Amino acid sequence: MRIGIIGLGRMGFNILLHLREQKHAVVAYNRSKDAVKKAEQAGAIPAYSLSQFCNSLPSPRIILLMVPAGLAVDAVLKGLKPHLSKGDIIIDGGNSNYVDSIRRAKALARSHVHYLDCGTSGGLYGARHGACLTIGGEKKSYSKLLPLWKALACPGGFLYCGPSGAGHYVKMAHNGIEYGLLQAYGEGFELLRKAPYRLRLDKIASTWSHGSVIRSWLLELAAEKLRTDSKLKKVSGKIGGGETGSWALQEAARRHVKMPVLSASLSARRASAAHDSVSGRLIAYIRNGFGGHEIAMRKKTK
Ligand SMILES: NC(=O)c1ccc[n+]([C@@H]2O[C@H](COP(=O)([O-])OP(=O)(O)OC[C@H]3O[C@@H](n4cnc5c(N)ncnc54)[C@H](OP(=O)(O)O)[C@@H]3O)[C@@H](O)[C@H]2O)c1
Repeated sequence: MRIGIIGLGRMGFNILLHLREQKHAVVAYNRSKDAVKKAEQAGAIPAYSLSQFCNSLPSPRIILLMVPAGLAVDAVLKGLKPHLSKGDIIIDGGNSNYVDSIRRAKALARSHVHYLDCGTSGGLYGARHGACLTIGGEKKSYSKLLPLWKALACPGGFLYCGPSGAGHYVKMAHNGIEYGLLQAYGEGFELLRKAPYRLRLDKIASTWSHGSVIRSWLLELAAEKLRTDSKLKKVSGKIGGGETGSWALQEAARRHVKMPVLSASLSARRASAAHDSVSGRLIAYIRNGFGGHEIAMRKKTK
């Protein structure tokens, strides 16, 4: 298969490497040119403009977007539009709001271009070695791309969820769950850190990763970070992110679903911008571990 990728950031570049490893041809475009050069070195066909990008793809084109939600997706689609043809399939693999995805699919359908919304989970590791995908949009377009889903996902890691928006709706719920899980780990480890005992948090996280009912990949990542910062002293507790969680909470209100865990997690996340906490430090570390999300190291340690 020949696949075009737009957005060669942390996720897009790892996906490119994963597809190349499986001998798929990849046409690579990125807003800033350095990433395109790097992609060429990794065996991709470089494209320095959207017209060159589209000309390098056979019809019907398969195009994967891996750019931030919101304005970036609209900007890329606007730039692509004059170069697209009937039957092309665009996949938004980023964390877009599902309502935006429905709107985009409708607009592109007028030009007979198909639009699939694909929730991507598994962080940078998943992008590089096989992700978990929840896909929405026309079933016919989804079915045409079965070899691609198999190439992108880990075994058993993709699902057709329903019509336009369904894939990103599912990813929004996934992120709502993720926020709560992170907050729970953060709080639990803060309680451990403040215990009247000299507890080894790294060893606890690592032991809990073997057989405990709270074992998970998030906990394994926590254990890994705690190995180099066992008292959670080196990193700032500023967490970042929050957009998809707030969408999930708004959706919950609209659908009369009570989500107090998500609500508390979001409040804690927002408060973390101004108030450092042990809990926030662990969450920032874990997010860095799965998604490469930025962390700030603390200048002074207490
Ligand atoms: N990181 C994760 O763990 C993770 C997991 C699942 C899903 N996602 C989603 O996947 C998408 C990509 O995430 P990422 O972590 O790879 O982000 P990233 O490392 O920040 O990369 C973003 C990419 O988008 C491009 N971009 C940004 N604004 C643009 C614009 N206005 N027009 C054109 N291109 C633009 C950037 O180009 P430049 O190089 O020119 O800045 C870069 O290539 C996001 O929707 C994210 O929410 C991320």
